[in-house]
Amino acid sequence: MNHLVVTRTLPDAVMARVSAQYKPIMLNQNGAFAIEAFLAAADGVDAALVTPADRIDAAVIARIPASVRVLGTFSVGTDHIDLEAARARGLPVVNTPGVLSFATAELALTLMLMAARRASEAERLVRAGGWSGWTPDFMMGRTLEGKTLGILGLGRIGLALAAMARGLSMGVIYHNRREAENAAGAEFIIDEADFLRRCDVLSIHLPGGEATRHWLNQARIAMIKPGAIVVNTGRGSTIDDAALVAALRSGQIAAAGLDVFAHEPAVPAAYLTLENIVLLPHIGSATLETRVAMGMLALDGIDAMLAGRDPSNRVV
Ligand code: DGY
Repeated sequence: MNHLVVTRTLPDAVMARVSAQYKPIMLNQNGAFAIEAFLAAADGVDAALVTPADRIDAAVIARIPASVRVLGTFSVGTDHIDLEAARARGLPVVNTPGVLSFATAELALTLMLMAARRASEAERLVRAGGWSGWTPDFMMGRTLEGKTLGILGLGRIGLALAAMARGLSMGVIYHNRREAENAAGAEFIIDEADFLRRCDVLSIHLPGGEATRHWLNQARIAMIKPGAIVVNTGRGSTIDDAALVAALRSGQIAAAGLDVFAHEPAVPAAYLTLENIVLLPHIGSATLETRVAMGMLALDGIDAMLAGRDPSNRVV
């Protein structure tokens, strides 16, 4: 039986498979990644399964014991792993593409609706005992019906969101570096400024990393249709938080919904002072069904690599 070290507690069904198939070393870490404990536990094991909360940078990769033949991540995103360092060292990495697309799109839609209909603000008011009764002009939000959703980064999640948005009678446009082969009817807008000008709602689905850092900055915010809504379920690093705060204060951006932050679990203090922002704790893929599927796919990849096969979810 192969030995597998797992950094965090996984859903029961995934744990059951881990216990049945491997000699597991469960670290059950919570909070900050305990690097030394991970490296000590990995000594002599065949494979490791980590999560997006575990930063596997070049220094960690250099110290992963030679016995480890594959690194799995319980995520589709890989910006927490230095893939170049893994490649250089010859350490294969597997991830969990596809299985979390619907759940993440569901959460982007949730954020869109909550931001448009002021749901967080309204619920805070009820809980604080501040509701004095129904009036015609109370807590008016805006409808999404007939509005234009702009998807930045049309991949699997964006496609799932586009299908959902059509159910709300929204028009859907998207901006990618290249036109998608299958955009399921969403209109490709090649020019970034045109794209931003047409967005009533901008939903960001970019991977993290240096190439996309602060993509949504002051200059691009100035190009967005005034009064638009911004939603981000990709990676927090793609937004310049100071620029977004200023735009939410000025009304250039009417409302925002964020599930991801640059330095999780820290949330920029200025966001907490604003009523027109919905803040969620990176729960895009957090449904039981999805998290089980993610665990199974990561284990499929690890199994395949250990058996000498090349799985489709191998990223390095
Ligand atoms: C991922 O898989 O990259 C997600 O961000 C975790 O929900």
